[in-house]
Amino acid sequence: MNEEVILKPKMIATTESVSCTVIYGDCRQELKNFVNQVDLIVTSPPYADARKKHYDSIHPDDFVDWFITFHEPFFNVLKPEGNLVINIKDKIINGVKHRYVWHTIEALCEKGWFAIDDYIWHKTNPMPGHWPNRLRDGWEYCFHLAKTRRPYFNQDAVRQPIGDWVSSRLVKLSENDLNRHNSANKSGFGRNISKWLGKKTVLPANILSLALVGRDKGHPAVFPVDLPLFFIKLLAPEKGLVIDPFSGSGTTGIAALSINRNCVLIDNNANYCQQAMRRIREECAIQGNDELQPQLKLFR
Ligand SMILES: C[S@@+](CC[C@H](N)C(=O)[O-])C[C@H]1O[C@@H](n2cnc3c(N)ncnc32)[C@H](O)[C@@H]1O
Repeated sequence: MNEEVILKPKMIATTESVSCTVIYGDCRQELKNFVNQVDLIVTSPPYADARKKHYDSIHPDDFVDWFITFHEPFFNVLKPEGNLVINIKDKIINGVKHRYVWHTIEALCEKGWFAIDDYIWHKTNPMPGHWPNRLRDGWEYCFHLAKTRRPYFNQDAVRQPIGDWVSSRLVKLSENDLNRHNSANKSGFGRNISKWLGKKTVLPANILSLALVGRDKGHPAVFPVDLPLFFIKLLAPEKGLVIDPFSGSGTTGIAALSINRNCVLIDNNANYCQQAMRRIREECAIQGNDELQPQLKLFR
């Protein structure tokens, strides 16, 4: 059975509407319907051997070959300037890091993807625990890949307030502050502090400090809404199409709808698709989409 729900909320910020479609199926098949239509794929695939009780898990030694079966479907759906973000983390085998993640990214690049940047999701509340040779696990990768070296990239959308330090630091400028001043450690880096005058915002670093999701969302591996939200702002235009091909509880859909992007969520577990539908109805309503009107379509 293939179930689909289409939600057409009218967003508070605009008179235009966007839609979120939840599709139950294998994304390699379902993506065939979206060739050359997608602005951004943002996703977190099953991690190697991580969730044996919950869904198919792949041994780290087999992960590269398994993930490469998604290369063509992902590549084909993206527009030429489209972006792919993969949130994933390493696996520890017998106390040692297995580098299946690095090998997977290298294999994707051999297939034609450009590795644009590696973002770090810094977990502000890492799980407690004790290991003989490691500390608590406080971060995960978010790899930014694209079909070209210059994909769609709207850095202004993620600018941050410059911070209070500016008002005190720029009150009295020294001579060094008025020209480019090279670093005293001879690193070759330099800066002209006076250029900060009048600036209200600054570009963020490629590190996202976000807490793990504490509440039960009906799925064992939910990422925080703010994680896909950041990348959707940065890498997908308004009313563009965002796809999460391993969508689990639908977090990416909640993020996309909240900022007026269309979204397609795909998962090969029917229960998670149902859960995604429930979350989108509940959490988008909480976010103020009072006119959210779900229409449920069932296909057999
Ligand atoms: C790490 S979870 C994603 C969790 C999600 N980010 C969230 O916040 O809920 C990966 C998901 O991929 C799904 N999955 C695994 N293989 C798939 C496939 N071939 N096609 C579609 N979904 C798949 C699993 O059922 C699982 O829900």
